[in-house]
Amino acid sequence: MNILKNIQLVNKMIFGAGSFHQLGDIVDDKRADSFMVFLVDDYFEGKELAERTPARDQDRILFVNVDEEPKTSVVDDLRDAILQITGKVPDGVISIGGGSVMDYAKALSVMLNNPGPSSQYQGLNLAQQPSVYHVGVPTLSGTGAEVSTTAVLTGPEKKLGIKGDFTPFHQIVLDPELILNVPRNQWFYTGMDSYIHNIESLTGNYSNALSDALAHQSLELCRQVFMYGSPDDMPSNEKLMVASLMGGLSLSYSEVGICHAFSYGLSYVLGTHHGVANCIAFNQLEAYYPEGVAEFKAMVNKQDIEIPQNITAGISEAQMEKMIDTTLALEHMWLHALGEEWRQTMTRDKARELYQQM
Ligand SMILES: [Fe+2]
Repeated sequence: MNILKNIQLVNKMIFGAGSFHQLGDIVDDKRADSFMVFLVDDYFEGKELAERTPARDQDRILFVNVDEEPKTSVVDDLRDAILQITGKVPDGVISIGGGSVMDYAKALSVMLNNPGPSSQYQGLNLAQQPSVYHVGVPTLSGTGAEVSTTAVLTGPEKKLGIKGDFTPFHQIVLDPELILNVPRNQWFYTGMDSYIHNIESLTGNYSNALSDALAHQSLELCRQVFMYGSPDDMPSNEKLMVASLMGGLSLSYSEVGICHAFSYGLSYVLGTHHGVANCIAFNQLEAYYPEGVAEFKAMVNKQDIEIPQNITAGISEAQMEKMIDTTLALEHMWLHALGEEWRQTMTRDKARELYQQM
């Protein structure tokens, strides 16, 4: 008998334009005798959204830089700094930003109650103690980080999430006004993460009626957004926010596949951000996802987006080997995409050949 996934969902969710106004009341409800940490993308430092953060005097607003993919060392530093400076565990962590900031908040909220380095917790259900209350407020849509059971982290040895029942948010606030006017390239790269989640979730051994239904609807929304929409129209942003949520749920109940396996290698070795790394990888995967890649290319053309090419040209042999190692270590993705015999299809030589095209 197959062991079926029993996934922890987000506890509470609010959706709709202007819902950010309710964040203060939501957070106040969870205050005890400590303070709240607001983890905010440093892109917003000095901007209007940072001013609107409903922080009280005792709270801490920490601006976090996400030019690089989230790292275990940064999570550890944040945790240690908060505990050392204040001497107590906060009542909650509220993240305002894209997937990287949300992943930092998810990881931090686990690590505030669990000892040792966060790299020890990269894997499934390794944390012993529940996380502190944490809230996700996305300002970019596509990653599904708002709803996923994973906080993806790059550690000293691997890129792998802190995954499990304590990772998902207790509350998410989905306000489409917050994702209005994201720069077009970033809007596209991040939004395409959702499109690719759906294609990968649908195409593999772990797909099922639940993950398929979510992926199909999310795909339809992605089509409307990227074939007909733009970053500055509200209906598109509402749809993209829902697509991200449904795509994230779909992959949580199924799995991602070949594109993510390659994308993780690019991010781990070259530091390429997840969304753009996915686009670079997906662009070369016609053989595995013919219809998805054809539609992806149509969207790239429609939105006039440049997908970086030849980013692996000139890398060292050691870097190439590390990328291949990273990719082939993601067994759960390969089992989903190619089945038990995946090693016969995706050999080191084949992985190298694909990386050389990226
Ligand atoms: Fe992704």
